[in-house]
Amino acid sequence: MSAPVAPAASETRKPARPLLGRVWRDYLSRHNGALGLSLVCAAVVGIMAATVLQLLEPAIDGLFLGKPVTIWGVVTVPPDRALVGIPAIIIGAGLIWTIAALGQAALVNRLGHGIVGDIQVKLFGAMIRADLARLRSQHSGGFVSSVLFDANLVREAFTNGMVNYTQHGLTLIAVIAYMAWTDWRLTLIVLLGAPLIAFVIRRFGKRMRKATTGAMVETSNLSTALMENLDGVRLIKLENREDAEQARVGEVVARRQRHVIKSADSRAFAGPLSNLVAMIIVATVMAYAGWQARQGGMTVGAFAAYIGLLMAAGQSLRQVTNLQTVMSEGLTAASRLFEALDIEPEIREAPDAAPLPHGPVTVALEGVSFAYGPLEAGSAPTLSGVDLVVRPGETVALVGPSGGGKSTILSLLPRFYDVTAGQVTVNGRDIRALKLTDLRDRIALVTQEPFLFDDTLAANIAYGRPGASQDEIEAAARAAAAHEFITALPDGYQTRAGEAGLRLSGGQRQRVAIARAFLKDAPILLLDEATSALDTESEALVQAALERLMKGRATLMIAHRLSTVQNADRIYVISAGRVVEQGRHADLVAQKGLYARLARSQALDGQPAETPA
Ligand SMILES: Nc1ncnc2c1ncn2[C@@H]1O[C@H](COP(=O)(O)OP(=O)(O)O)[C@@H](O)[C@H]1O
Ligand SMILES: [Mg+2]
Repeated sequence: MSAPVAPAASETRKPARPLLGRVWRDYLSRHNGALGLSLVCAAVVGIMAATVLQLLEPAIDGLFLGKPVTIWGVVTVPPDRALVGIPAIIIGAGLIWTIAALGQAALVNRLGHGIVGDIQVKLFGAMIRADLARLRSQHSGGFVSSVLFDANLVREAFTNGMVNYTQHGLTLIAVIAYMAWTDWRLTLIVLLGAPLIAFVIRRFGKRMRKATTGAMVETSNLSTALMENLDGVRLIKLENREDAEQARVGEVVARRQRHVIKSADSRAFAGPLSNLVAMIIVATVMAYAGWQARQGGMTVGAFAAYIGLLMAAGQSLRQVTNLQTVMSEGLTAASRLFEALDIEPEIREAPDAAPLPHGPVTVALEGVSFAYGPLEAGSAPTLSGVDLVVRPGETVALVGPSGGGKSTILSLLPRFYDVTAGQVTVNGRDIRALKLTDLRDRIALVTQEPFLFDDTLAANIAYGRPGASQDEIEAAARAAAAHEFITALPDGYQTRAGEAGLRLSGGQRQRVAIARAFLKDAPILLLDEATSALDTESEALVQAALERLMKGRATLMIAHRLSTVQNADRIYVISAGRVVEQGRHADLVAQKGLYARLARSQALDGQPAETPA
């Protein structure tokens, strides 16, 4: 999945409206109760913030000037009650404010992280279902970064963002309303200065957006570099390249840092600069108010409240403008994520796919051609015109020079890739017309380097049949000659294998994989050089286990050592993507072709080996 990793800055500029709609439909709407409630809380917070400031006016006038004051034109507080009454009202407002703020925080946190979780799970689902061809085209590190970081940007924009937007937006409106109520002429003057602040903030917003997009890309590069180094740690140590790798990662970190610092700078600089503008406005207001006061216009309380409100207005304006940046960051991240989510796998089940009944199966390739990607002019496809058949109980071997296309043939059977021409059939039906789960359910695959999950050996063996009983698991392990070594381990079947667990030897891993295949009991068995990586002793054990496994199944095996294919029912010699010879071992040796040469080099043709002169 290349989409979440390397978005050219231009291709991520999507119209915001459909994106917002989709975020709403797919993620927010199912939480609309919580969202509505948190918006109400935000509104209360916003209005209370302004209200408490406005209360400065009656507070100062009532407490210090000893005037009777009227709060919001409703509650009149006589001078003898002011000392208790005004603080009580302020505390009351403060309580409402606090409760709403707590409610808002709790709701937004749950909502936001719930949405991150939804996105992460969906993204993983899309990744694990994506075509192999697609997965292979991207480093997994980029994917990890997308799941971990991009999803959070969406959260910031759509939950924190929306709620804060409401809160600060309402604070701003309430503050301006109170200001206008206190002195509308002065407020008119102030509003003339506001666009200036907005302009300053916007300029920085734009720079910040650019820097943040850069940081997103570099974060993805960083996680790629980290994973790559962990994967290749042996090579790095052996070649004494620790310093070089540290320097390389250092460069990625430095590049990321540059973007992050730029974005943090823009965020931070916008504040002081708009403060400067705000100070100028405040000074203007003071001059005007002072002049007014001389003419008996404004009380001290009104003036103090007005300045307080003005400061709050600046603050909220800054927040609201900042939020636009967060929003657009979130939209960028959302469009990256949606792009990744929207890639439909090309290999999927036909709507009218037929079930595949249980029982023995015949597998055939009929005139199969295949290429991994679009063919460049003059280059040959990976496979061309391959015909082969494996009947129930037969063992069919693929041999030939490396790079000839043998593994590619195997990967066509479970539809890891689809053919470009011709067809692969199971019991005479094109596999593209069969239920994909049925098809894959009937295939067991043992490769040169079997994969073990970071889980117990029992779970690893039962991976294809999660409901298997301990007895069934043990029976499979016995058949695979794995039971003995497993029970000799301190935790037996509960021993953890995989990256963070026990390191099994090649032969042991191979036998665990064979046990897995025994338990799956599939009618089609694919072996890709299952014994080539083993020493002779393990090879004998594994070979014996494989022979038991092959009984009664349609087996297609790739073997590097021809000694393992001498008893095959049929051997296909694959070279440069074509079947160049086929037959039994003896016939092929007699043909004196490619197979005979290969056999000769491995001293399997019954002739004394050539000794170099
Ligand atoms: N995932 C892939 N993407 C692109 N090309 C591939 C891929 N896997 C294999 N190839 C190419 O296809 C050809 C056949 O490879 P393969 O089937 O692995 O050969 P064999 O198993 O006979 O050694 C080789 O040229 C190889 O480089
Ligand atoms: Mg191969």
